[in-house]
Amino acid sequence: MTTKNNCRNCGEVLEHVFVDLGMQPLANSYVDPTKKDQAETRLPLRPFVCQGCRLVQLPEYETPEGIFGDYAYFSSQSSAWVKHCGDFADLAVNRFKLQGNNRVLELASNDGALLSAFQTRGIQVLGIEPAHNIARYAQQQGIPTIDKFFGIDLAQELVNQGYQADLVCANNVLAHVPDIEDFVRGIELILAHDGVVSIEVPSLYNLIKENQFDTIYHEHFSYFSFETAIDVLERRGLKVFDVETLPTHGGSLRIFARREIDRHPFNSVYQNNISRVSQEEQFCHNFYNLLGYCIFPQKDKFTTIQKLAKLRQDGAVIAGYGAPAKLSTFLNYCGIGPETISFVVDSTPAKQNKLVPGVHIPILPESELQVLKPDVIFISAWNWKKEIEAKIKKECDWNPEVICRIQGSSV
Ligand code: TYD
Repeated sequence: MTTKNNCRNCGEVLEHVFVDLGMQPLANSYVDPTKKDQAETRLPLRPFVCQGCRLVQLPEYETPEGIFGDYAYFSSQSSAWVKHCGDFADLAVNRFKLQGNNRVLELASNDGALLSAFQTRGIQVLGIEPAHNIARYAQQQGIPTIDKFFGIDLAQELVNQGYQADLVCANNVLAHVPDIEDFVRGIELILAHDGVVSIEVPSLYNLIKENQFDTIYHEHFSYFSFETAIDVLERRGLKVFDVETLPTHGGSLRIFARREIDRHPFNSVYQNNISRVSQEEQFCHNFYNLLGYCIFPQKDKFTTIQKLAKLRQDGAVIAGYGAPAKLSTFLNYCGIGPETISFVVDSTPAKQNKLVPGVHIPILPESELQVLKPDVIFISAWNWKKEIEAKIKKECDWNPEVICRIQGSSV
């Protein structure tokens, strides 16, 4: 049994702060302008690093029910994400020889973007999505979806009904799970004898290498290196047999695991993939290196403030492109508000006409760029850099200066 001060993976007492980003509002709690004078909840954004298994983690300040009860993010709204899903469905169908009688289960299936790709390839699908509004939407699109949180209880309920999954997909969800034990044991339970689980997590190595500290926010409870992810899975009976590195979310890992490895032939290509990623991540295996990260964000804070403040002083109107959760962390940490960035545009209707949490920069539809013609565009959704740069090139004929904090990222 672990408490809030114990590692949610291995139970070790948590004593070491990975980085302190101060008191921050909830990054996805966009503020209604009529409520802008009301106090916002602020909580410490101070992840710890476990001395035992190296898992970087935030205490569960906010319950998953509070975060996901009604969620603003719909996967299908991004054409790049829909393409990512189609590519993965092709890969999985070919590689694991999935046919019409096989079952694909997705945990945190959102609006069914990935499952609909499997469905159009003739595979049986089931989604688990606790955000009621999004689950309802997926059901309306013909994607069977259970609107509950996944864990041992739900897995057992489904197994009792005779359900087992040949492929379990858990993309960008493990980081949001406070009770890793319950979630991963549930996967092990629901996996068919020969089934495969595919897990995508943003990589801690990339977070450090590119100083992506803004990907830290209260909804992300855990930050994984490959080695730590292996530890998380193997403690709960799942053996990792392959890994890929992906450009998504500024650099992610796609980890494949299954229950019984002995029955499968040794594959040197997979083994090479595992060795390559493990070697690349050597930095993350040294506990004291991880502790050293705590000073990294300050570097960006000062250079970005200086750069934006100088442009503003010279009279430039600065707009942000994209209002992702990471923008909230970034601006609140740097103390940048509407005095510097006049407005942000975002394609998500649920975010439009709201304010960025804490710093209260207005969020407008993308079409407002054409009206307000800012001199500078700061690509705040840097994980979509390529897509956004292409849009700016096509639509912003007044030639604004474009700034992006993270250079190497795409999708
Ligand atoms: P997302 O990738 O979900 O990041 P986070 O997990 O940090 O919230 O958010 C990307 C945001 O960028 C989302 O609100 C949509 C917005 N966006 C646009 O407004 N226009 C675009 O062309 C793209 C690609 C994204």
